[in-house]
Amino acid sequence: MMNTPIDFDEKLSQVGRRGFLDVPIDPTLDLFDEIERLKKEKNAVVLAHYYQEPDIQDVADYIGDSLGLAQYAEKTDADIIVFAGVHFMAETAKILNPTKKVLLPDLNAGCSLSDSCPPPVFAEFKKQHPGHIVISYVNCSAGIKALSDIICTSSNAKLIVDSLPADQKIIFAPDKNLGAYINKVTGRNMVLWDGACMVHEIFSLEKIIKLKESHPDAKLVAHPECEEPLLKIADFVGSTTQILKFVETDPAQKFIVATETGILHQMQKNAPGKTLIPAPPENNCACNDCPHMKLNTLEKLYLCMKYETPEILMDETLRLQAKRSIDKMMELSAQLGI
Ligand code: 13P
Ligand code: SF4
Repeated sequence: MMNTPIDFDEKLSQVGRRGFLDVPIDPTLDLFDEIERLKKEKNAVVLAHYYQEPDIQDVADYIGDSLGLAQYAEKTDADIIVFAGVHFMAETAKILNPTKKVLLPDLNAGCSLSDSCPPPVFAEFKKQHPGHIVISYVNCSAGIKALSDIICTSSNAKLIVDSLPADQKIIFAPDKNLGAYINKVTGRNMVLWDGACMVHEIFSLEKIIKLKESHPDAKLVAHPECEEPLLKIADFVGSTTQILKFVETDPAQKFIVATETGILHQMQKNAPGKTLIPAPPENNCACNDCPHMKLNTLEKLYLCMKYETPEILMDETLRLQAKRSIDKMMELSAQLGI
């Protein structure tokens, strides 16, 4: 049977609709070598979040949390930034680097938390709270960033909130769990937008309590996107980078990890002798895998580097409006030494 030749132009024209390039890859290729070759040939850098699949983390030039990735993207002199993460992360890189090509292996890699805060509805919410400044967690769209005064990440949220006068009224969006946690540790009473992450709300408190009972020597580490009852019993709460550092340096040998499972790859590399137990979700599902993060694959990463698509493109007015609140975060982070 004869193979029908691929209509490559047709495939390229489908990227806008499908969100990624879907063409066959020569199975004899070593994708790790090919990606390294393309990096050099195109002066490209691959940035990956800790929730990406292990192969992607292993080919990345830099792996980090949202703050680290944004800081790296701001200072890179590469011509092409290949962002192995979700859309808001690649969009942040584009906002900071308008003249560079920013690629995302699959444009469908969104974020449930970002989706929980539509800009027109948030603009109305803002109007109902005059006199408040808006601090938004970086997990939001450019439209929300444009409506915000300061962006924060889970690494710097506490320090940024603490840096504002005690009587400053604040709206915190979009994550109600992170917002409530920051209210608790800073003693503030920020108005919270009612958004949440589908992955971090799925953990079963009951199963975690049972796990703690059967592993009394294990410490529970959690991302602040988890719900309050879980955070209350955690031994350590922090961003992905902060959790990694804690597990590496703490004398405990066993940890129950309440965040997306992708982090276990670097965690085990950084702390090879330690026992890591992923926190169990409510059902017997793999719902503590972020379905958005996991849309990126090594194959899609290779294709997007080779053909330089899909690319993040932005309206310039929106980019400039969104950049103000990110610049403010970068400025405060530099002042606060994070
Ligand atoms: P970090 O900034 O802690 O890596 O968190 C990003 C994220 O999407 C968590 O769900
Ligand atoms: Fe968004 Fe949650 Fe996935 Fe993080 S884990 S990218 S907050 S959906």
